[in-house]
Amino acid sequence: MDNKIIIAIDGHSSCGKGTLAKNLAKELGYLFIDSGAMYRAVTLYLLRNNIPLEEVAEDPALLGNIKITFVYDAEKSFYETYLNGENVEKEIRSMEVSRRVSPVSAIRTVRLFLVAQQQNIGANRGVVMDGRDIGTVVFPDAELKIFMTASAEIRAKRRYEELQKKGIHVNYQEVLHNIRERDHIDSTRDESPLAKAEDAITLDNSAMSKDVQARLALQWARGVIKSLAHQ
Ligand code: DC
Repeated sequence: MDNKIIIAIDGHSSCGKGTLAKNLAKELGYLFIDSGAMYRAVTLYLLRNNIPLEEVAEDPALLGNIKITFVYDAEKSFYETYLNGENVEKEIRSMEVSRRVSPVSAIRTVRLFLVAQQQNIGANRGVVMDGRDIGTVVFPDAELKIFMTASAEIRAKRRYEELQKKGIHVNYQEVLHNIRERDHIDSTRDESPLAKAEDAITLDNSAMSKDVQARLALQWARGVIKSLAHQ
């Protein structure tokens, strides 16, 4: 019997959702989908084509030519994002896209468009997807839902150190302010705000190493898969 499940991982910005999701997908042989990358790809498309957000909000047909796919790069052990056949992994992480993705992801037509695609990808299960609304809106029936969090100070410290390592010099207070601001926008927007699903397990990793988190989540996943096999 095929006991593939869907694992939904939601949570605040910069708390390691992607790392955990990728690791789980690799261990289980599942597909990993970074739903944030899809919002970023739509943002890039709108920017490149000079399409104003108000028009997209009125006319979902403007999104009709967007095709987003993920291609696994075995060498990098990484899924890269493609927009209409072009590898846009780098562009979607640019500061310009990062600055503009929040208002784009708050548009209802954009969310409906992407949620339908995300549900399609998960139709055969065997998927780990991370985002903000995966356990609440995209897959309310996911067999395992994890809601990740950590204190804003810890997330800011991690982000600050990551930027320092890349040679990008910023002020810690600025990073902290930005994280708090994004938490606020993500949690208070009208369309699918970030919220913990009632049946999600909270994983507060403020004082937890990546390895411990990975082991714990894998244990949960294997537990769920095993319990399904006995049903
Ligand atoms: O995870 P990320 O930072 O790459 O996400 C980019 C943006 O997309 C962020 O502003 C939140 C939004 N997002 C969303 O609204 N819903 C999702 N399922 C995933 C991301």
